[in-house]
Amino acid sequence: MDLFTESGILLLPRDTFLTDTHVQLLQKQRIWEVEVQQVLSEGTTENITNQLMDLDADKETVAAYVKALDKTRSLFDGIGRDDKPGLEQFSDVFYEVAEQSMKQLGLFRSLYVLEGSDSYTYRHSLNVGILCSLIARLLKWGEERIAFMGLAGFLHDLGKMRISKEVLLKPGRLTEEEFDQMKQHTVYGYEMIKQMEGGSELLALCALHHHERLDGSGYPHQLKGDEVPVECQVLAIADMFDAICSDRVYKDRTSPFEAAQLLWKEACNGKLNIEFVSHFVRYIALLYVGARAVLNSGEEVEVILIHQDEPMRPLVRRSGEFVDLRHERTLNIEKMIG
Ligand SMILES: [Fe+2]
Repeated sequence: MDLFTESGILLLPRDTFLTDTHVQLLQKQRIWEVEVQQVLSEGTTENITNQLMDLDADKETVAAYVKALDKTRSLFDGIGRDDKPGLEQFSDVFYEVAEQSMKQLGLFRSLYVLEGSDSYTYRHSLNVGILCSLIARLLKWGEERIAFMGLAGFLHDLGKMRISKEVLLKPGRLTEEEFDQMKQHTVYGYEMIKQMEGGSELLALCALHHHERLDGSGYPHQLKGDEVPVECQVLAIADMFDAICSDRVYKDRTSPFEAAQLLWKEACNGKLNIEFVSHFVRYIALLYVGARAVLNSGEEVEVILIHQDEPMRPLVRRSGEFVDLRHERTLNIEKMIG
């Protein structure tokens, strides 16, 4: 309901989406209780922030990421409530963290040890943006294109803000009908970016086609081969990798090594661009030298050396002895822990 001060001035109209600032305002007015309607949300950023702060990654980078996460949340949520931010507002948020994360690639290692699916869509958007610019860089694309790819990754799932929270955050398997609704996020994203001040056709197409696969098995238009713009081919790799490596409401995360293996399989099956994937998995594997991980046997190991021929099966150290995962084919790196 509408909230008034003691002297009868309207303080907050009904249906206001409460933020911390509103709560402080209420406290200043000595209003200690209000009736609220709960909305489903992706949890808070608090849990994730606390975990990030505990990591031994570069503090400045972590702080930039946390700040960007909060801003992403309010920008994206705003769009779900009919705000109309222009492209510039999105790029301001994204480029600050992108620049920082390129200087401190250790951030990647930290991102995939986080537990819990809180704020998944916001984190996923930031991560995919960062990964897209990383892949563009590995492919030696020009600076302008690298910057474009970052933003394309950041905005690729914007259409999800128009999907009902019941479907978006459903813990179990989606029914066929729900999955059809979910697929619409690509079309919604296209429309939203097209209508955005400063949004371009190519940027909108990236949202539309990021679930297309080279063999025509994707959606929404079942494009094949060259019909899928190269930008979307990069986006598909970044999107899949981040999704596999993160905890979701319906599944636990998989290690970047297993994720890289899955990407490689998808590339061999003709779904992803094999040249792009091969650059990417090699680079990702190298990033994890020195990282600690848990094998499917439950043992803790340290990643020691990445092999040229099979970057996804490195040499690891297990309490004093070395194990070559190229030869121990039953062992897999299940989870990164630091
Ligand atoms: Fe998506």
